[in-house]
Amino acid sequence: MGEGRARISASILDADLGNLGNAVRRVVAAGADRIHLDIMDGHFVPNMTFGAKTVRALRPRTRVPFDAHLMISEPSRYVGEFIEAGCDSITFHVEVDEPIEPTLQAIHAAGRAAGLSVKPKTPVSALEPYAELLDIILIMTVEPGFGGQSFMGDVLAEKAGPARELLRHKLYGGELHVDGGVNRETAEIAGALGVDTFVVGSALFLPGRDMAREVRLIRALADEGFQYGPNDGAPPIPRDKLTPFATLPKHLAHQLMDEIEATGIPVMMLRGDGQINPDGVRDYELLVPASVEAHVLEHHGATRERLLREAATWRASFGAAG
Ligand code: DX5
Ligand code: ZN
Repeated sequence: MGEGRARISASILDADLGNLGNAVRRVVAAGADRIHLDIMDGHFVPNMTFGAKTVRALRPRTRVPFDAHLMISEPSRYVGEFIEAGCDSITFHVEVDEPIEPTLQAIHAAGRAAGLSVKPKTPVSALEPYAELLDIILIMTVEPGFGGQSFMGDVLAEKAGPARELLRHKLYGGELHVDGGVNRETAEIAGALGVDTFVVGSALFLPGRDMAREVRLIRALADEGFQYGPNDGAPPIPRDKLTPFATLPKHLAHQLMDEIEATGIPVMMLRGDGQINPDGVRDYELLVPASVEAHVLEHHGATRERLLREAATWRASFGAAG
């Protein structure tokens, strides 16, 4: 089955801010899966960083996904700029003093993943009203504002379970991020609590340490943590892992694909390399996200069986010898 792998989202907050392009290049070369962009307005948190214009300038430097973490008082006012700047996901804080739903909807309307974050003292229950609109929950394990603080393990231990519960409605692609104080001492604990995306800032920029080794080490420790985790010891399935579901002639593969996609689950159709049909075209293969394999089987297994029978009839109708 799907082997789990922790994803490392590198925060460049503690990089040389005079040379962010270089920071992005370095963390990507070191193997980071994503870039975590800490946006601060000096109002929601007592610090300022950079804005959408900087993000836009960094966007062409890499193809690695950009996760924006908006620690700002008015996300609704600026969310459009971050969408335009090319962020793949945008997470903001549930503690803001303005309506939250429209901003989540705007992010979705732009086809990006939407997330909400909770400060250490905010309970996960504050996210309940928005659960259906969430792709990402980001649990802060330090007070937002500065890199280099110590990890609050008790905060994560208390929140990780309820946060995963809130994301359960998402058949695939729900992500639990932990942000603050993640390093080689804390990654394993976070992995054991079922976190899948690990924001790592200052640990990557410690003088004298090899950044690539640090990424590998933190990821391996987080993966190790999955083994003791709440998922019956099974690692979480990465959101991008696909698994084969059916092999059918093209016209029948399309029918099954349409049926599954109508429920909101993405299907990938690939030209197979198996048997050649009597019409000279090989069967096609349908792949579904591994995290929803059981669900797809339960709801579309019967259709698959029917189409497989139809395929046999269709092949026979050619009357070909073999
Ligand atoms: C804090 C930021 C974090 C932080 C992570 O407000 O949201 O992303 O930069 O840095 P470390 O890993 O040093 O805690
Ligand atoms: Zn952050």
